Amino acid sequence: MRWDEIIRPEVGRLRPYEPGLRVSQVRERSGKDVVLKLSSNEHPCGPVPTAVRAMEAVLPRMNRYPDGACRALRGKLADRLGVPVANVVIGNGSNEILRLIAQAVLRPGDEVVYAWPSFIVYSMVTDHFGATHVRVPLDAAQTHDLEAMLDAVTDRTRLLFLCNPNNPTGTAYGREAFARFMQRVPEHVLVVVDEAYFEFVTASDYPDASEWFDGARPLVVTRTFSKIYSLAGLRTGYALCPEPLVRAIDALREPFNVNTVGQVAAYYSLDDEAEVRRRRAENQEQKTYLYSCFDRLGIGYARSETNFVYFATERPVEVFEALLEEGVIVRDFGNAPALRVGIGTPTDTEITVRAMEAVAARLGSI
Ligand SMILES: Cc1ncc(COP(=O)(O)O)c(C=O)c1O
Repeated sequence: MRWDEIIRPEVGRLRPYEPGLRVSQVRERSGKDVVLKLSSNEHPCGPVPTAVRAMEAVLPRMNRYPDGACRALRGKLADRLGVPVANVVIGNGSNEILRLIAQAVLRPGDEVVYAWPSFIVYSMVTDHFGATHVRVPLDAAQTHDLEAMLDAVTDRTRLLFLCNPNNPTGTAYGREAFARFMQRVPEHVLVVVDEAYFEFVTASDYPDASEWFDGARPLVVTRTFSKIYSLAGLRTGYALCPEPLVRAIDALREPFNVNTVGQVAAYYSLDDEAEVRRRRAENQEQKTYLYSCFDRLGIGYARSETNFVYFATERPVEVFEALLEEGVIVRDFGNAPALRVGIGTPTDTEITVRAMEAVAARLGSI
């Protein structure tokens, strides 16, 4: 039996997603009791109390399959967003929705336009379906260059991902740039705007892509409960989708792709808007404090609309390792001259600042 004959060659060539280091691995390595995982943009506070109570209440019913149509959650999101329920898709994380969209639309040889660096999943799904990557570098401010992305569109472009705010840089493009983009983007291109960090945004110029959603133009907006709602472990995300694409996704997805606990937790999380506002404000305060540390240490960084900050370093490998020694796990990007650090609780930020200072003192600079 030859595995290279059994497994499709194009699949054999794919590389799995590489998650960051786990806390237990770093605890062993650094000998530190307190290890902060600030590498996956998770929220430190955990689910809101109403969501926790709802999850506990539903646990005895785990003998039953979930509602495969996610009716309650879709209905609530539809009301909230002012769209027909038929346009709301729930996924096993917004990640699953990104993949299902790619599966629904991409033919081998189609072109997929996305910014670089940006969320790695756009690259992964492009590979999964044999499509061609068209990466458009971020501009000097580390923001999507929407004009350059439009210039990169050809007759063969099928899909165009926008990540706003962008992971890993945290930057967001403004309303006017997005309006110009939407007016110019040709109709044969499906535009997917990934707004995973939507709830953290404080910029008054931020364009909420859902305002452009009319159910007819080829536009999808994805969001998630993994970030500010702190439900990453439950894998629940959603999208606004035109109906023909909803039907395609429904045909491709697993029958019960979104688990009951995730559906219930997401539903009740939407009730606690005050907590979302509190988390956004606290995140903003922590970011400002971290910026002041970076300024003091002479570290370059991009101003972020998210719960993470992308900072410059000429020696990412050394700085990454030195931060691990201090018990802080950040995200590296191979040899890219930058690292990404998540925003946690005020205590986490204090520890991060002290770790940065210690690393700068040890290495001479960052
Ligand atoms: C930009 C972006 N989109 C989507 C996701 C996926 O989120 P989910 O947990 O909903 O799959 C992430 C997760 O880190 C992300 O950074």
